Amino acid sequence: MISQNTIQQILSRIDIVDIVGFFVKLKKRGTNYLGLCPFHNEKTPSFTVSPAKEIYKCFGCGRSGNSISFLMEHEKYSYAESLRWLAAKYNVEIEETETSPEFKQQQQVADSLYIINNFAQKYFSDALFNSEEGTTVALSYLKERGFREDIIKKFQLGYNPETRDGFTKAALASQYNLDYLQKSGLVNVRDGNAYDNYRGRIIFPIHNQSGKVLGFGARIIKNNDKAPKYINTPENEIYIKSKLLYGAYFARLAIDKADECLLVEGYTDVVSLHQAGIENVVASGGTSLTPDQLRLVKKYTNNLTIIYDGDSAGIKAALRGLDLALEESLNVKLVLIPDNEDPDSYLQKVGAADFTAFIAANKKDFILFQLNIALKDAGNDSTKKSIVVNQVAETISKINKTEDFTKQQDYIKQCSEILKIEESGLHALVNKFIREKVNKAENRASREVTADDGSADISSGVEDDISALFNRDEMHERAMVRSLLEFGLKDWDEEQKVAVYVFKEMEDNQLEELIDNKELKKVLQTYKIWYDEGIEPTAKNFLYNDDLQMSSLVVSIMDFNYEVSPKWKEHYEGHIPTRDELFKEEVFSTLNYLKLRKIKRLMDENQRDLEKATIAEDQLILVQTHQHLKQMEIELTRQLGTVIFR
Ligand code: GTP
Ligand code: MN
Repeated sequence: MISQNTIQQILSRIDIVDIVGFFVKLKKRGTNYLGLCPFHNEKTPSFTVSPAKEIYKCFGCGRSGNSISFLMEHEKYSYAESLRWLAAKYNVEIEETETSPEFKQQQQVADSLYIINNFAQKYFSDALFNSEEGTTVALSYLKERGFREDIIKKFQLGYNPETRDGFTKAALASQYNLDYLQKSGLVNVRDGNAYDNYRGRIIFPIHNQSGKVLGFGARIIKNNDKAPKYINTPENEIYIKSKLLYGAYFARLAIDKADECLLVEGYTDVVSLHQAGIENVVASGGTSLTPDQLRLVKKYTNNLTIIYDGDSAGIKAALRGLDLALEESLNVKLVLIPDNEDPDSYLQKVGAADFTAFIAANKKDFILFQLNIALKDAGNDSTKKSIVVNQVAETISKINKTEDFTKQQDYIKQCSEILKIEESGLHALVNKFIREKVNKAENRASREVTADDGSADISSGVEDDISALFNRDEMHERAMVRSLLEFGLKDWDEEQKVAVYVFKEMEDNQLEELIDNKELKKVLQTYKIWYDEGIEPTAKNFLYNDDLQMSSLVVSIMDFNYEVSPKWKEHYEGHIPTRDELFKEEVFSTLNYLKLRKIKRLMDENQRDLEKATIAEDQLILVQTHQHLKQMEIELTRQLGTVIFR
């Protein structure tokens, strides 16, 4: 863990213009900077960076965030990776907090494995290019298969010669620890003798997202029925097969650009496609995709195209687990390569242009494909067929995000045609699965369900900064929290800060319970805790909070281009007061809106009681209460009317 102290040092040096400007060309416009949005295609710049607020926002696609979220989004770094990147940029030395001995030990092992792999990669590359056996046996083999030298070097391919222990000896001579060498899978020990594991094999290094070598795939050159074709690094502290995709390091930019990730089975397929200029490609190694691998893809794109050879046993493996892709809103397509070829051999056979055309023309929808296979398997067996119907309904039910609604309807239509069943029947079945899932989720989260006045719960859509989505109450809540964040530390009067005034008002009038949005409420509560504990509850500290949901909420409520209402312009001839000058009015009116809401609710309640009341005395009291509340409402509205509040 990076220490809090280090984080503070990094944050104090952050300059968002500098950081975003490293990746995006920015021009100064007034107090802000403007550039072409790196997250969507545009010709006129609508990507704005505010150095004062330390946030960016694209008025085209709506993406917004701070320096760290920019790195996370643009570079696909994790939160910690972003901090490390910034630390390196600003020469901040990273201080790690006390970690458990086990964790330290694990880190140490991981570091050692990286170092050994780095050594091994160089050793194997050297052997491929500079040894007699390497050039005559391995390099010539690769060239015969059509691989160019530049691509061999790019992928850092290598060769481990046929000797018993050439690598082992070199590694031990360089003082590498035998235990770690074994853990890395590069060296085996039998009967007390250490020897090379990948003898006579072409070596494919497997890189992590930042280009470090996690492990290797080693392919035999000579045909040998007894030995496996490929040997891979065993699972260890850094090589975790379920979390990696071969080629991801070289493919990430291309995937981002093409907004599509191609998935193949083999190492050679990846290298070969790259060589042909198709760089948005990764390999799974022929096993079924894991949730972690899908998430890795989803960091870059929503479009996954699986390209397998037509009769590969790998297809079924690949299709397993893909229901999960649907839940993640990934669009999965499938292309089968004909004639017993695999992507590599087919590409070498027909050339890049035909290959690309073939892929484009033969993308099949994954759900329909799966359905057709299952139907073929079921044949005329009606029991099996009904199982297929259920399966497809369940699969379709996983497409369950609002934005995917049309997609779901399309599938129901198409699948019912293929299955030759009534569309409405399939529809009902899909709904049944959705309901079951919702019920399960609700049972789990029942205590979190907001019982309320029917106003939409949109707290989950924190990133949605489209104000049209917000109801009026939500707008007021956001405005209130925003004014607190921006002005909380200013003086309200001689005795107290704005924050103290606000919290006192909230408490006296029991306003907090009126805040419907749970996330906003959390910001308020955190603000108060920080304030009481002497931590500065500035917007900046919220922006760089590791609670990313809270951070992104704060980004979304921070207003960028505050526009002065036209009414003000009429009101004040000449000097138009800035928002900063008007902060008291703003704080005052945001609180008043909440009070007004409170009064409305009390009046409703009173009204209901009045309808039920049968005794004249009760009725009288209730009517008086009503009049009293009404009076307060008028007063509050009058006050609000004098303050023009956006
Ligand atoms: P070439 O035959 O050299 O073109 O390699 P390929 O990548 O086309 O191999 P193939 O289609 O036979 O297998 C696809 C992928 O499955 C490989 O790249 C490996 O990741 C994996 N694989 C194949 N054979 C083995 C094996 O014997 N052991 C292991 N662990 N993985 C294998
Ligand atoms: Mn192949």
